[in-house]
Amino acid sequence: MKKFIDQISSEIKQAFSVLGYNPDLGKVTVSNRPDLCEYQCNGAMAGAKEYRKAPLVIANEVAEKLKDSRVFSEIKVAPPGFLNLKVKPSFVCAYLKQMIKSPKFGLEEPKQPLTIIVDYGGPNVAKPLHIGHLRSAIIGESIKRIIRYAGHTAIGDVHLGDWGLQMGLIIVELNERKPELVYFDPGYDGEYPAEPPFSIAELGEIYPFASARSKVDESYREKALQATFELQNGRIGYRALWQHIMRISLVDLKENYRNLDVDFDLWKGESDVQDLIPAMIDKFKEDGFAYLSNGAFVIDIKEETDTKEMPPGLIVKSDGAYLYLTTDLATILERMKNYSPEMMIYTTDKRQSMHFEQLFRCARKTGIVPPEMNLRFLGFGTMNGADGKPFKTRDGGVMRLEDLVSLINEEMYKKIIANRDVCEDEARKTAQIVGLAALKYGDLSNQAAKDYIFDIDRFTSFEGDTGPYILYTIVRIKSILQKYTEAGGVINKEALLAPEEICANETGASEKSFASDFGDKALMLTIAGFNAMIETAYEEIAPHRIAAYIYELANALNTFYHQTKILTEPVNEKQNYYIALLDLTRDILETCIDLLGFSAPERM
Ligand code: ARG
Repeated sequence: MKKFIDQISSEIKQAFSVLGYNPDLGKVTVSNRPDLCEYQCNGAMAGAKEYRKAPLVIANEVAEKLKDSRVFSEIKVAPPGFLNLKVKPSFVCAYLKQMIKSPKFGLEEPKQPLTIIVDYGGPNVAKPLHIGHLRSAIIGESIKRIIRYAGHTAIGDVHLGDWGLQMGLIIVELNERKPELVYFDPGYDGEYPAEPPFSIAELGEIYPFASARSKVDESYREKALQATFELQNGRIGYRALWQHIMRISLVDLKENYRNLDVDFDLWKGESDVQDLIPAMIDKFKEDGFAYLSNGAFVIDIKEETDTKEMPPGLIVKSDGAYLYLTTDLATILERMKNYSPEMMIYTTDKRQSMHFEQLFRCARKTGIVPPEMNLRFLGFGTMNGADGKPFKTRDGGVMRLEDLVSLINEEMYKKIIANRDVCEDEARKTAQIVGLAALKYGDLSNQAAKDYIFDIDRFTSFEGDTGPYILYTIVRIKSILQKYTEAGGVINKEALLAPEEICANETGASEKSFASDFGDKALMLTIAGFNAMIETAYEEIAPHRIAAYIYELANALNTFYHQTKILTEPVNEKQNYYIALLDLTRDILETCIDLLGFSAPERM
């Protein structure tokens, strides 16, 4: 379905054209003076020079031409040549009716559907998930859903950090604690036990302990590096331990993501591509891309246009170890082979932007991806505490993801209990749903690249630009609709008769009752902007566009609600129209929150 604003533009463009002007002058934008008009066109000013006419003259001609337009209820010319526009309610209504009948409310399918890999989450196995991983999960999940809704194929890959030093640290620490385990005996050639030699709780404790010790004990750290190297080079006892670490951690990770309503298609990790690396590097050498520099292999990626320092990409260290960059290159290689994607999107903390710049340049230069390949890095900012510094626990430690989620759920629970008479059990369940919305909306309503302040009190508030406010609005609509149907009403989605059509049928009531817009018009206009908004959110890969839209939509709905008697409206057609409008608003709000990755409870 053509975008609403484009339909309006068409009408104005046509008028410009008929009058002998360049039709492009008829481009319409949303008014920046909503007190004066809904839309505006500034084309008369733009065309004045070319046609050597006063803008006011052109604007008046256009206005005159559109006098009987089916689209506009009002066209006012304002000096020096603005066209201030209001559209007819019947025109918006017709558009909304068409939206209801169209799939995805009239969002057009892409001409060329793409396959897009979304690399997000990026947890490091056996290390605690922290807030950076939370942001990556929340943002990536939303991006994936937006891409799908826009009609493309999105493949979400968690890309586990499962091959790094943390594994060596765990192995070394376990060796200290339980040296008798067969995994450490190089001469052992039997089967390894199926039961892991540690519990999840122990594993959770071992890593931070070992990590802290490695920072003060150089020889311990050396041992961990050595163990990592041996693991990577196939020492079988270590591989067996690694399997245990992976199996146990994944159960826990999956649970964490499930709680966040984050879901991956691929659970691949750094370890999965290790076998591809030697051949990849040989090829880089053969093709003359990788060369020896101080004992290490590097790829030059400087470009003439660079304004900042661009160090060569380091792919093999002098001790033979591979790096983050190496693994990421091999991962691209594998993804190209398996999925032939047109685009890959990565989302991590923006402090990794240099890594991704290097990665993308290496991939292009070496021909792992074709030149037209779209590789995008979406770096996000830091989540800060009220003091403006990275969010910490009360005692100054790194906040773990589970703790953060419980913190917000607890606060939500308190507010729900305080707000309403509800049993403990239901309040807990609702708090979980609303808490997730508070957390995700608090994050996604900011432009991803910006830092933001995690303000628990604000995020969990039922008022203002928050997740709970959006949910509250949805629940409000649901409750009205429920009352309506309980009283015998039947929701007719297509009962969107334009107000003036209803008035025409209404004896005596004349236009007056509808001439004063009581919020229904603004609500309709916001709804009509849905497909344009989704297109922008997809093109910019910007969930915050959706957040901004639903905030506006929720506000429009609430204004309408406060100014209108819905359930007591005596004129049937009018009430049907209100109900259809509420129903459509709810459908759109629910669609949008799903794209942000949360849902609404039945009551709250
Ligand atoms: N595991 C990494 C980290 O914790 C993030 C991985 C991001 N994805 C990637 N393909 N490099 O920082």
